[in-house]
Amino acid sequence: MNSEKRLVIYYSNSGYTKKLAKEISRNLNCDIEEIKTPVSYAGFFGYQRALLQAIFKRVPKIKKLKHNPADYDLVIVGGPVWGGAVSGPIRSFLAEYRDNLKDVAFFLTQGGQYGRGKVFEQMEQVSGKNPMAYLAVTDKELSNGVFRERILYFLSELQEQTPTMVSKRVPKQTRQTASTRLSTRPT
Ligand SMILES: Cc1cc2nc3c(=O)[nH]c(=O)nc-3n(C[C@H](O)[C@H](O)[C@H](O)COP(=O)(O)O)c2cc1C
Repeated sequence: MNSEKRLVIYYSNSGYTKKLAKEISRNLNCDIEEIKTPVSYAGFFGYQRALLQAIFKRVPKIKKLKHNPADYDLVIVGGPVWGGAVSGPIRSFLAEYRDNLKDVAFFLTQGGQYGRGKVFEQMEQVSGKNPMAYLAVTDKELSNGVFRERILYFLSELQEQTPTMVSKRVPKQTRQTASTRLSTRPT
């Protein structure tokens, strides 16, 4: 994994995903970038906007990134769950950059712990990618520190698959999907 170029890309509205993304990037000692949006998702109207965009699978505008995901062997993408679905800004990132992504891993933050499998599947569909590892963390786990253990598990899964260049070592079709992997790993 050490010879790979890795980038953590995330969207965060209220700071939970930011905390998780920073810790992942700190552990991997890799580049990190936050997805920014021209519109705000703060406050009452922002909440409604976020919910409607997620439920109706909208692809909102996102600002241009400083890093080029095509320059990285592995892009680790994460954001919050909105309305039981992938958040608009993450949907937009995956749709816009799908042809520029090599290997990917996904992470999510959420208030509860239900529906994560469906959200990971949406991320797979939009990106057209079969991720190497998944991580879903609740707000409570982010607050009480349990998320650090979860990150180590996530990184060990990545490590298993990316000792050097995973795409050359593991045929894509043999990798697990979100639903099969989530059913066999701790939540
Ligand atoms: C519009 C909106 C919808 C949400 N819907 C869900 C949901 O369906 N399921 C869930 O577990 N959490 C839901 N949440 C909670 C967020 O996923 C959770 O707080 C997340 O950690 C926020 O990440 P952030 O602070 O990086 O924005 C929702 C939050 C917002 C703002």
